[in-house]
Amino acid sequence: MANKQWFWQPKHTGEAAISEENVPVHIAIIMDGNGRWAKKRALPRIAGHNEGMKTVRKITRSANRIGVKVLTLYAFSTENWKRPKLEVDFLMKLPEEFLSTFLPELIEENVRVEMIGDIEQLPAHTKKAVQNAIEKTAGNTGLVLNFALNYGSRSEIVHAVQSIMKDVEAGKLADQDVTDETISSYLMTGHLPEPDLLIRTSGEHRLSNFMLWQLAYTEFFFTDVLWPDFSEEHLFEAVKAFQKRSRRFGGLSQ
Ligand code: IPE
Ligand code: IPE
Ligand code: MG
Repeated sequence: MANKQWFWQPKHTGEAAISEENVPVHIAIIMDGNGRWAKKRALPRIAGHNEGMKTVRKITRSANRIGVKVLTLYAFSTENWKRPKLEVDFLMKLPEEFLSTFLPELIEENVRVEMIGDIEQLPAHTKKAVQNAIEKTAGNTGLVLNFALNYGSRSEIVHAVQSIMKDVEAGKLADQDVTDETISSYLMTGHLPEPDLLIRTSGEHRLSNFMLWQLAYTEFFFTDVLWPDFSEEHLFEAVKAFQKRSRRFGGLSQ
């Protein structure tokens, strides 16, 4: 098993295989560039979001296939409410559309749907679709498909700090027990491993309020490819780049 490699049907010749060893356990993706994809085609921005939804399906299947355990997808930030109402309304319909179409497939593939972000502020129909998918897939043991929806890292940290303070006041937690691990465990990702690999599409090189705490030692991969154009080959390219990195976590390489 040691040097076993995966081979997939390459669409381009010369594709090297991904090593089965060292597949990132948790991949997080900032799915960016839907608007520019549409603009290039003289289409409305929402057409880009629609196309981006298809990429979510493809990439979920590919990630599951190569053995990724957690895939976190940044779908809507706490700052995205600033966009025109029509666009926000459209984005809030996408989870329903995605889940109503693909939920049977996700169940079949043993995928567990989860969400990070403030679910309470979502429109009732969006909340219902997400909660239904979470419930229906709760017993699945395969890939965790974690949607960051109405998610903002600073707000997540603020809530974690508030909860810690409450628990200290209530005597449930001693103040000297507030450690690095305590803070991690109070975040919405408390039960998940930290991302090994972060991918951001569309040529932007920033975090846009995404997992600021959790990404402390994550490997970053930036690509100019717009999210609707992001393919399985692009995912594999990112994984292969990850596999060439030397993660030192502050120590020395072996
Ligand atoms: C990412 O694409 C999707 C969301 C942020 C919801 P954008 O809509 O940000 O696309 P660009 O960056 O304008 O091209
Ligand atoms: C980040 O993309 C949020 C998501 C991908 C959901 P944005 O397009 O909102 O980020 P900025 O505004 O370019 O930083
Ligand atoms: Mg953007």
